[in-house]
Amino acid sequence: MIFEGYRQEVNSFDSKYKQIQLLDILPNQILAFDIYLYLPANDKYVHYIRAHDVLTNDQLQRLKFNKIKELFILKSDLEKYNDYVSSNIRSLLSTEDGKLKKQAVKSAAELIINSVEMLSSDGNIIEWNNNCIELTKTVIDDIVQTDDISVAYDKISDYLSATPTLANHSLIVSSLGVIVAMSLGNSAPRTLTEIAYGGLVHDIGLGSLPAKIAEKYLNREEMSVVEIALLKEHPRKGVNVLQKIIKSRNITDNVLKIVLEHHENVSGHGYPQGLAFDELSYLPKIISIADKVALEMLSIGTGEISLRYIILKIMREQGPKEIFDQKMLRVLLESLSHGRA
Ligand SMILES: [Fe+2]
Ligand SMILES: [Fe+2]
Repeated sequence: MIFEGYRQEVNSFDSKYKQIQLLDILPNQILAFDIYLYLPANDKYVHYIRAHDVLTNDQLQRLKFNKIKELFILKSDLEKYNDYVSSNIRSLLSTEDGKLKKQAVKSAAELIINSVEMLSSDGNIIEWNNNCIELTKTVIDDIVQTDDISVAYDKISDYLSATPTLANHSLIVSSLGVIVAMSLGNSAPRTLTEIAYGGLVHDIGLGSLPAKIAEKYLNREEMSVVEIALLKEHPRKGVNVLQKIIKSRNITDNVLKIVLEHHENVSGHGYPQGLAFDELSYLPKIISIADKVALEMLSIGTGEISLRYIILKIMREQGPKEIFDQKMLRVLLESLSHGRA
């Protein structure tokens, strides 16, 4: 039995293989590359699916049943893999069916966020960036077309997953960011795009940290002093990842600012720079509120609680030691009371 002795501790530094996520492989689609499983008991990679074959629904269920989330490809197949991911994103986002669209947007976010570390050529990088823009456009369109902010919020709670992933959290923050920005009176497409794009990639630096840290952070679990110190590096690491891959070509300064400053706060005790109130930038302040709301939505866990309730909770909890911009929270609350801003 192939799963016997299978553990999740995999050696990602092995030179010949590259780890991918099971979520990235859609069932019943012809694959252009081989897929391997890692067996730690024998420290061996075994062939699981051959190129020109498909991952069947049965196989997918079996992998899920065995709690296997990581698969492997040969590093030499990276270009083929990236092409596969890009074409999946395009076909997912072209879905017209409203119900399917929600699922498609979720899957597209997983594919985009998971593929960031895989970008190996200029062509892939441009494609990745285009995919980010496509996805954020879909998110913005959906929200702009909704007349009432509260209704838009209810819609995005469909994106919530019981077990949060970095991609899922990023998608929620991207959509919430657009809702918050619109409630504050922003309607310029460029601003909304920067907010949606910035929200999508704000935590991309978490992907460069040990997986346990992102998991603990998203689940709001207690962390050791060392883990907290590592966590505080994620904004800078995010900027590094984006600058390296995008070469500043399409990522705007505002997007990079969102990534760098989304954990700064009004009291001046945020990280990584501990900026003072008058040094805080406008768009990162919006994303920091969206980020907080996203984490609250998760811990409440139902998607049944109104945005108004969450904002009131944040305002009450932060008290006089202001973390989030109180004025922004007040305007947001007001717009929720009076429908569309
Ligand atoms: Fe973050
Ligand atoms: Fe976040």
